Amino acid sequence: MERTLIIFKPDAVQRGFVGELISRFERKGLQIVGMKLTQISPQLAETHYQAHKGKGFYPGLVRFMTSSPVVIMALQGKDSIAICRNMMGATFGSKANPGTIRGDYGVSNSYNLVHGSDSPEAATRELGLFFKPEELIDWTPAVQPWVYDLTKGTPE
Ligand code: RTP
Ligand code: MG
Repeated sequence: MERTLIIFKPDAVQRGFVGELISRFERKGLQIVGMKLTQISPQLAETHYQAHKGKGFYPGLVRFMTSSPVVIMALQGKDSIAICRNMMGATFGSKANPGTIRGDYGVSNSYNLVHGSDSPEAATRELGLFFKPEELIDWTPAVQPWVYDLTKGTPE
């Protein structure tokens, strides 16, 4: 099972989409193992998006991400990183396909509602930035055997 870091960005929280976005991931079968409302500090936003330092959009991105509260989620599931990236859609709201979060809820290229880790290395790094180890909970959903075929011992 893989874990990924998801952020509902300030626009998603301000526009009242928290419940709907949580529901999308829950209904997909992804398991919530960490969740909180917080306001990101400039220092944390800079570290989180350090790969983009020097790009034209970076200062505005840091300003946006720190401008208002966000919801931080840790989601667990088989291939959760790729599944979440597909559910988010393309980076720019103007290009994202219908059926994806960015495609269904936004038109902006900067205010694009959601962040998701883009690799196992990024997920490990980002989960460590936003959650203390004790804030990530190991638990087994009662519906697990109906979400996955477990009859061969590994989730299918
Ligand atoms: P994220 O990291 O937030 O999940 O988004 P992403 O992987 O789809 O896109 P990435 O290339 O990592 O860009 C990070 C965020 O920067 C903002 N951005 N604005 N105006 C622009 O040209 C531009 N380019 C990127 C977006 O908020 C994007 O999600
Ligand atoms: Mg990214």
